[in-house]
Amino acid sequence: KYVSFSRKHDLDKSSAPQEAGTRPSRCPDNSAFKQQKLPAWKPRLTIASVLSTFFLTGAFCLSVGVSLVVAANSVREIQVDYSDKCSNCSKLRENSSNWNNECLCSINFTLAEDMLGDVFMYYGLQNFYQNHRRYVLSRSDEQLLGRNVQNTYCAPFAAYKNGTPMAPCGAIANSMFNDTIDLFYNFNSSVIQVPLLKTGNSWWTDKNVKFRNPDSHNLSAAFAGTARPPYWHKPAYLLDVEDEKNNGYINDDFIIWMRVSAFATFKNLYRRISRKGQFTDGLPAGNYTFHISYNFPVTKFKGKKYVILSTMVWSGGSNPFLGIAYLVCGTVLIHHPNPNLSEAALLLMHICS
Ligand SMILES: *[C@@H]1O[C@H](CO)[C@@H](O)[C@H](O)[C@H]1NC(C)=O
Ligand SMILES: *[C@@H]1O[C@H](CO)[C@@H](O)[C@H](O)[C@H]1NC(C)=O
Ligand SMILES: *[C@@H]1O[C@H](CO)[C@@H](O)[C@H](O)[C@H]1NC(C)=O
Ligand SMILES: *[C@@H]1O[C@H](CO)[C@@H](O)[C@H](O)[C@H]1NC(C)=O
Ligand SMILES: *[C@@H]1O[C@H](CO)[C@@H](O)[C@H](O)[C@H]1NC(C)=O
Ligand SMILES: *[C@@H]1O[C@H](CO)[C@@H](O)[C@H](O)[C@H]1NC(C)=O
Ligand SMILES: *[C@@H]1O[C@H](CO)[C@@H](O)[C@H](O)[C@H]1NC(C)=O
Ligand SMILES: *[C@@H]1O[C@H](CO)[C@@H](O)[C@H](O)[C@H]1NC(C)=O
Repeated sequence: KYVSFSRKHDLDKSSAPQEAGTRPSRCPDNSAFKQQKLPAWKPRLTIASVLSTFFLTGAFCLSVGVSLVVAANSVREIQVDYSDKCSNCSKLRENSSNWNNECLCSINFTLAEDMLGDVFMYYGLQNFYQNHRRYVLSRSDEQLLGRNVQNTYCAPFAAYKNGTPMAPCGAIANSMFNDTIDLFYNFNSSVIQVPLLKTGNSWWTDKNVKFRNPDSHNLSAAFAGTARPPYWHKPAYLLDVEDEKNNGYINDDFIIWMRVSAFATFKNLYRRISRKGQFTDGLPAGNYTFHISYNFPVTKFKGKKYVILSTMVWSGGSNPFLGIAYLVCGTVLIHHPNPNLSEAALLLMHICS
C-alpha cells in the first residue's frame, strides 16, 4: 500500500512540476479567527442561573405586557358604521349612473367623555381586498415619482383606448376612497365646525421622497397629455381645491390610499383635529354630528364603511393584542420553568411581535 501511494505521489509531481510552486496554499491562515480560537463565552448552566433567567425574563414580559394593556385601554375611540346608517345613499350608489347626484348623510353621536390630546379621524373599510395580488401590483411607482413612463403593470388601467395615458394609472389609484367627512360640534344649540387638518397625515418619506409631481411651470401643465382614471371625476391636479400644494401625486389622501393594507378590514388616517379654539385640549364631551358626502360604493363587495375617532398613546393605537401576548409569555415563563414550554412561548412572542 505504501509503495503504491508514494508512486502515485511521484506521478502527480511529475505531471505538474511547474504549477506546484505557483498554486496558493489551501491551508487557512494561522489567525485566531480562521483557526477558530477566538475567545468565547460558554455559559455554565446551573439550576439557579437558568431559573433566575427565566424568572427575570418572565417578570420583564409581565411588566411590559401590563403597561401595554393599560396604555391600550386608555385610548379613547369611537367607531360609527355609516354604510348602514346612510342606507339611502348606499342604495343610490348601487347605480353608478347616479354618480353626479350628491348624497349627504348626517350621523349624530355623543361623546360621553372628553377625548384629550391629539385626536385622529380614520375611515375604515371592511371586506375590501386591497391585498389581492393583481391589485397590489397595479401601480407605477416611476410615474408617481413624476417620471411619466408607461408601465405595463398598470393594465387594465394604464391608458384609454385612444392612447391617452392615465395619471395616476393602475387599479389602486382608480379605486381611491372619495367620501368626504366633516365633523360638527353641537354646543349650546349652536353648531360649530371642528377644524380638521388634511395635510401632514402621511409618512414623511412618502410625501417627500416616494411621491413627486412631474416638473412643469404649473400643475395643470404638468399633467397635460394625460387623463384622470375612469372612476375619478376630477383630474389629479384638482384633488384639493383649497390647498394648491396638496395636489397631484403628493395629495395626502392619495398617498395614504396608495399604501395598501395587508388585510381586508383596515382603517386609513383621514384627518387630524386641529387643536385650536374650543378644541385646544382635544374633543370635549358632548353631542356631535358627522356630515358625510357619500360617494364610495361598498354594497358591490358586501362591505361596510366606518368613521373612527381615536386618540393615540405611546404604544400606538387601541389594539391590546401585543400587550396580551406579553402577558401570556410572562405568565408561562414564571409558572412553568420547563425549558421546552418556555422556549416555545418565547418563540411565539417573537412571531407575534
Ligand atoms: C330615505 O329615503 C326614503 C325615500 O326614498 C325617505 O322616505 C326616507 O326619509 C329617507 N331616510 C333618510 C334617513 O333620509
Ligand atoms: C340607473 O339609473 C338610471 C337613471 O338614473 C336608469 O335609467 C337605470 O335603469 C338605472 N339602472 C339600474 C340597474 O337600476
Ligand atoms: C342630530 O342633531 C341635530 C342637532 O342636535 C338635530 O337637529 C338633528 O335632528 C339630529 N338628527 C338626528 C337624525 O337625530
Ligand atoms: C368615487 O369612487 C367610486 C369608486 O371608485 C366611483 O365609482 C365614483 O364614481 C367616485 N365618485 C366621485 C364623485 O368621485
Ligand atoms: C348657552 O346659551 C345661553 C343663551 O343662548 C347662554 O345664556 C349660556 O350662557 C350659554 N352657555 C354656555 C356654557 O355658553
Ligand atoms: C398653466 O399653464 C397653461 C399653459 O401651459 C396655461 O394655459 C394655464 O392658464 C396655466 N394655469 C395656471 C393656473 O396658471
Ligand atoms: C345631547 O343630545 C341629547 C339628546 O339627543 C340631549 O339629551 C343631551 O342633553 C345633549 N347633550 C349636550 C351636552 O348637549
Ligand atoms: C424536553 O424535550 C425533550 C425532547 O423533546 C425531552 O426529552 C425532555 O424530557 C423535555 N423536558 C421536559 C422538562 O419536559
